[in-house]
Amino acid sequence: MEAAVSDQQINLLLTDLLYVYGYDFTAYAKASLKRRINRLYTLDHFPSFAEFRYRIRSDENYFNRFIEQLTVNVTEMFRDPLFYQALKTQIFPVLATYPFIRIWHAGCSTGEEVYSTAILLKEANLLHKSILYATDINAEVVKKAAAGIFPIHQMQQNSENYQLAGGREEFSQYYIAGYDHVLFNEILKKRMVFSTHNLVSESSFNQFQLILCRNVLIYFEKDLQGRVFALFDESLDKLGYLALGSKETLKMSPMVSRFRQVDTEKIWRKMQ
Ligand SMILES: C[S@@+](CC[C@H](N)C(=O)[O-])C[C@H]1O[C@@H](n2cnc3c(N)ncnc32)[C@H](O)[C@@H]1O
Repeated sequence: MEAAVSDQQINLLLTDLLYVYGYDFTAYAKASLKRRINRLYTLDHFPSFAEFRYRIRSDENYFNRFIEQLTVNVTEMFRDPLFYQALKTQIFPVLATYPFIRIWHAGCSTGEEVYSTAILLKEANLLHKSILYATDINAEVVKKAAAGIFPIHQMQQNSENYQLAGGREEFSQYYIAGYDHVLFNEILKKRMVFSTHNLVSESSFNQFQLILCRNVLIYFEKDLQGRVFALFDESLDKLGYLALGSKETLKMSPMVSRFRQVDTEKIWRKMQ
């Protein structure tokens, strides 16, 4: 079936987003963008592309919905448990030697990733001297992450991932259970700072010893990935760590000469 919104029309929308709102999606991987734009167009029953375009350009609330639908926010706690195990056994012992630890979760989505890191930091007795910045382009998911409230039905899977990641405690001690949701403990949240941040257009805002940007760059074209790697290079202390998702790599980037791969679990160390 032919897509309702053509490639040319998608380019028009992307240009609008850039010039009307300053959001640059022009270097995002096209296949995923196309799927998501077409999905929204059908879901919201637009009679014509012209009306769809007009609505995005003129109605800021609808523009926000558009951004929310454009970004893929799938996440879970202790996603790829072996990655967290590597974090715990190989990276935390080095971070432990620093007086203060600054961590950035770039593209944090609804926050499951940052709560996972905080739990392991707590068990390594490092949370009290850590600060975890968690940012995302999508304001709606950042709000959810900051609330620390998650559906109770996810806790079984979270608990299994936590054990596989090397968690030592009873997982349920980290939250208070309500009827259908759980609220994560204040002690974890106290060390977190949430904010919107756009990796495409905004600059570095601190120096970090660890940056996690997992399952975000996969949605970017190669040039944009390169620009974001440069941003991370600038934002990392010398000997700082960069953690990527399972399908992402620094290998093809010119930046690779400045980093060394720490292990097979997608963790890189800045050497220069
Ligand atoms: C698939 S989620 C990954 C969440 C988490 N890091 C994980 O691995 O489970 C990708 C996130 O990247 C965010 N994102 C996409 N483009 C971004 C940008 N330009 N700047 C910051 N975040 C962005 C999306 O809003 C989404 O929440």
